[in-house]
Amino acid sequence: SNSLPAKSPPVFEGTPFIGGIMKFVKGPMQLMNDGYKRHGEVFTVPVLHKKFTFLLGPHVSGHFFKANDDEMSQKEVYEFNVPTFGKGVVFDVDHKVRAEQFRFFAEALKSAKLKVYVPYFVQEAQDFFAKWSQEGTIDFAKTFSELIILTASRTLMGREVRESMFHQVADLFHDLDMGMLPISVLFPYLPIPPHWRRDRARAELSRIFARIIQARRQSKAGEEDILQCFIDSRYEKVYGGRYLSDEEITGMLIATLFAGQHTSSITSSWTGLTMIQDKAVMRAAEEEQRQVIAKHGQELSLEALNDMKVLERCMMEALRLFPPLIMLLRQAKAPFAVTTSQGKTHVIPKGHVVATSPAYSHRLPHVFSRPDDFDPERFAAPREEDKAAPFSFIGFGGGRHGCMGSNFAILQIKSIWSVLLRGFEFELVDPFPEPDFESMVVGPKPCKVHFKRRKQPL
Ligand code: HEM
Repeated sequence: SNSLPAKSPPVFEGTPFIGGIMKFVKGPMQLMNDGYKRHGEVFTVPVLHKKFTFLLGPHVSGHFFKANDDEMSQKEVYEFNVPTFGKGVVFDVDHKVRAEQFRFFAEALKSAKLKVYVPYFVQEAQDFFAKWSQEGTIDFAKTFSELIILTASRTLMGREVRESMFHQVADLFHDLDMGMLPISVLFPYLPIPPHWRRDRARAELSRIFARIIQARRQSKAGEEDILQCFIDSRYEKVYGGRYLSDEEITGMLIATLFAGQHTSSITSSWTGLTMIQDKAVMRAAEEEQRQVIAKHGQELSLEALNDMKVLERCMMEALRLFPPLIMLLRQAKAPFAVTTSQGKTHVIPKGHVVATSPAYSHRLPHVFSRPDDFDPERFAAPREEDKAAPFSFIGFGGGRHGCMGSNFAILQIKSIWSVLLRGFEFELVDPFPEPDFESMVVGPKPCKVHFKRRKQPL
């Protein structure tokens, strides 16, 4: 009860010091499972000189999501991205500059712009799947990461990249990606070949985008893409109100691509895998496509996509079961208190790394009923289990730093799956895959899927 003195969270360790490391090596999911069983929603794990405090579930994660940057900071825990994103942006700048840069992200991704991007999502998906033969076997993870980098280059990096330098830029991004290893989180500047290739690729991307940006500035022909939004963005409270430099624009583009690429392609994969696995849900999704076609015709407009509620719930349910970002991190800059569902209050000291987990929280039975079942209708009225308590569904994070690209991602994934449902039928060849918890952004382990073109498209 509130009259009891508040204490630090219970410390979860076997052998002190080494204990924590061993638990991390076994994987964060196992660690959270063991810690939760032993101590409940709040516990601390010492790892080397750091203390990680876990806040699991909506009862205890409110402060994590709502606190401002002076209380809960992202900079220290996400700083390893600096060599990838580049100097002068996001986690390499003080919070005043970062706040303005986040305003530029928000502006580029706001709803009014999405109407412009939707026809590109649809066009890229249609062109991509038009190249498939009558039937064959594919792996979704591979398929969707190719498709999503195509749409990203169209909507984000712009026409120039998409039309005349797609392969070159995609290869450079691949090198950036391969330079982001679990070890890079601790030692982002470790002199190893993947980091050298990352740094070379990053420098080459700067040169390419500097040319594109200068050409656009000269021609004054505005394009409708995220690159153009950044070119037109201007600081208000810092740097004397100037426009972004070429280097900052490139950094912002790379950050946007990293936020949206694997997360979206993985969620597209799970959406398909879970629907294919559940025949009744698949029939409902196909039936919905027929109804939407009857109402809107074959055109996949923003309005048509917004009418696909069944498909959207499938996507949300896939994201609930298999969130690609399994852990979200902050550093506590000031102590704060949390009270568990059992009424115990803990004070988390300043300096702790604070973690919450979509992957773990989404499977708590007091938050989602029968949490391991794929049950998209849990999101529909009157159940709406995601709305029972704030921060129940955190696949897109939430609060102050919730995903700015969620609507962009939802529309992109719905465009892809709408095109696929209308044109193809699928079957899993391999058993339903496990998540690969060893990668930075967690997706399905390889899984072969058989596709067959419909004789009569929906
Ligand atoms: C933040 C998930 C797609 C841009 C986040 C966060 C999550 C997330 C969990 C919060 C991170 C934290 O609290 O530490 C996802 C998922 C996606 C997706 C699952 C796809 C299914 C995208 C796309 C974009 C994007 C497509 C951009 C085009 C951002 C940005 C932030 C963010 C800019 C930072 C917001 C902030 O820190 O204030 N995303 N995301 N995301 N996401 Fe996404």
